[in-house]
Amino acid sequence: MIRLCFVCLGNICRSPTAAGVMRHLIRAAKLDSVIEVESAGTSGYHQGDAPDARARAAGSRRSIEINGAARQFERADFARFDYVLAMDRENFEHLARIAPADAAGKLFLLRRFDPAAPQGAAVPDPYYGGDAEFDEVLELCVAACQGLLEHVRREHSLT
Ligand code: 4NP
Repeated sequence: MIRLCFVCLGNICRSPTAAGVMRHLIRAAKLDSVIEVESAGTSGYHQGDAPDARARAAGSRRSIEINGAARQFERADFARFDYVLAMDRENFEHLARIAPADAAGKLFLLRRFDPAAPQGAAVPDPYYGGDAEFDEVLELCVAACQGLLEHVRREHSLT
């Protein structure tokens, strides 16, 4: 099993959106028995909460289910995942600080897998925005997750 974890700050907006998008793409590619997806937050502010209703609504506008219960990403999680995908620079730096030495190579900014994204590009925090910001997060996640799925297929010789 190849395990991916998407990580944002609260684990209620961006990372559950990316996880929902990725599961959708994995199912369409018939790779659900090979690739497993979770999400987490660098903070525990929303521990146990369902994804934000605005994120779920943006998903349903594109027929993508966004679900889960928020939890905080812990140092020990690095051992459970092959890829840890940070939404922005702050999440990345937090994760880099707590990563065990042998896990540094598992950590990526999600949008580095979007060939159209500039270097260092983030998925911006939509929490204080509205539907337009949540729709944008969803589109950015679709573009990056398509590239990520191609990368994983190539790296692990999946057809
Ligand atoms: P997320 O969005 O990191 O994409 O889940 C946020 C959710 C909650 C907060 C900030 C960002 N907050 O400050 O509570």
